[in-house]
Amino acid sequence: MPTHSLRAFFWHFMRPHRLACVLILLSPICLMIESAYVPYIIRQVVNIVIRDDVTAATIWDAIGVMMFCAWAAYGLMMAGFRGQEMLGNRAYPRIHAAIRMKAFDYVLHHSHHYFTNQFAGALAAKVNDLPRTFQSLFFFVQWQIIGTIAMLAASLAVMAIVSVPITLMLFVWVVFHIGMTLITVGSVSRLSSANSEDRNRLSGQIVDSLSNNNTVRLFAAFRHERASIQPLQDAEQHSHGAMLWRITLVRWIQDAGIAVVLMLVGIAMVEGWREGLLTAGDFVYIFYATFNIMFFIWHNSALIPNFFSEMGVARQAISILQAPHTLVDAPDAKELVVHEGEIKLERVEFSYENQPPLFSDQTLTIPAGQKVGLVGFSGSGKSTFVHLILRLYDVNHGAILIDGQNINAVTQSSLHRAIAFIPQDTSLFHRSLMDNIRYARPDATDEEVIDAAKQAYCHEFITAQAQGYATMVGERGIKLSGGQRQRIAIARAILKNAPILMLDEATAALDSVTEHQIQHSLHRLMDGRTTILIAHRLSTLSQMDRILVFDKGRIIEDGTHAQLLGIDGHYSKLWQLQTQGALAEI
Ligand SMILES: Nc1ncnc2c1ncn2[C@@H]1O[C@H](COP(=O)(O)OP(=O)(O)OP(=O)(O)O)[C@@H](O)[C@H]1O
Ligand SMILES: [Mg+2]
Repeated sequence: MPTHSLRAFFWHFMRPHRLACVLILLSPICLMIESAYVPYIIRQVVNIVIRDDVTAATIWDAIGVMMFCAWAAYGLMMAGFRGQEMLGNRAYPRIHAAIRMKAFDYVLHHSHHYFTNQFAGALAAKVNDLPRTFQSLFFFVQWQIIGTIAMLAASLAVMAIVSVPITLMLFVWVVFHIGMTLITVGSVSRLSSANSEDRNRLSGQIVDSLSNNNTVRLFAAFRHERASIQPLQDAEQHSHGAMLWRITLVRWIQDAGIAVVLMLVGIAMVEGWREGLLTAGDFVYIFYATFNIMFFIWHNSALIPNFFSEMGVARQAISILQAPHTLVDAPDAKELVVHEGEIKLERVEFSYENQPPLFSDQTLTIPAGQKVGLVGFSGSGKSTFVHLILRLYDVNHGAILIDGQNINAVTQSSLHRAIAFIPQDTSLFHRSLMDNIRYARPDATDEEVIDAAKQAYCHEFITAQAQGYATMVGERGIKLSGGQRQRIAIARAILKNAPILMLDEATAALDSVTEHQIQHSLHRLMDGRTTILIAHRLSTLSQMDRILVFDKGRIIEDGTHAQLLGIDGHYSKLWQLQTQGALAEI
């Protein structure tokens, strides 16, 4: 998909419909009939009707055929227009769909990092801008460019038969008018691009505020939220105004040109008649054609600023496709094959963008089937550790290997298929509970989904809902409690049945009784699988084979629960605090 230029990008999607597109683009040639042929016939008719020898008895003989030809030509033109419309009815929806789906697919494949820096609302707006701007730019080329050329060529050619001086006058005016418009319109395009960017930033911020509406309410921060959006709205208002004023300036210049040429054509017409160069039929033709040309050019050039403004929007929108995917499969990436499930970190160094290294020279082996618990202060790097194994970010140096295969050398899909991951903050789709659980394995039967839900202790609360498994969960799962969302995530992991399991605070939102019940299912799930389990509640970890204590990206203690209690370290202090009840969680 070429994204270096708008033309190449849109052409890519027009190609499969190229015959239809070319015919549609050429259809304004029909305008020649209306702008030149028909007025010319009217001129002839007028010249005949005013002749003395044409009487009531002979009028049909004199003009009947001409009238019929004009009528038939109009019919032909209308048929041409409806024909292009029918071709468009078939091609446009397909082209829009192809553009939107391609853009959606590309954007969805951007890295996790990309999304952490973008507003989802602004991205969605750009995905929709692409097909919309395709249509408006296409119509512009069809009617405003090709239509104008066809209409002008035909009108001026016939005008040259009638009056060469007036043809020249109109020609000079057309060149002046279009030239002036094109000269001034570059700045309109720049102002429009700036306005489009301001608007996208603003709508991203609005979506951010709206989606956090409850936080806003609970902090009584309506004014604060308004105030934080205000500068963005001010910028948008300013750039919007600047663009509109520039468009008006361009139109003033255009209108001044029209006033001058109308006066000159009027004078030339009267002078031509005085010198006997023009007939009554010529007068009719000149009036008709001049106003036709004027209206056409005036109307169409008034749309030129809109064209450039749409170009600006389209350029902004295509930028989401120009940003390369930063985290891609290696060209010769193979499928990850997990036999045992050993995870190995070799001298891993990692830092977030513009941040000091979080992990440096980290080497670690998690043997196949081992159940490892991670503890440590908030921000010590536990989630980052599992995100690196999932390759949500690339390490700066070193390598992460699963069963001896570098995760950078295998496809991301095969890597993600091999790992069931329950994230710290589970977000669900606004779809039914059934669909949300089945997401882990789309070919699972209803029975398998329900079985997983039972193991994750979801079944009871799901069947208590009015619509059971068909209940919709609200945007990001907002209609469920935190613990219910976590249990759905656990059900997903059970259903996925992947050889490696990683849980980031998977039971943190559950009450002790439910957690205790789920532990049983979780331990059954962990059985025989390499497991990494992050938990603040140390009781959750006591049955792990091994515990790693994190501190600022370093592993400061490594051993079994019993071993770590035996040394007077961080873990044993935490354990004492938690078992004494002084600190339920850290
Ligand atoms: N996307 C990101 N961009 C930049 N820095 C990040 C990003 N995600 C995390 N960090 C930083 O990396 C550090 C480790 O974060 P991480 O989420 O791995 O901690 P954690 O041990 O999981 O903490 P918690 O127990 O609170 O979940 C923190 O200082 C955090 O601010
Ligand atoms: Mg975390």
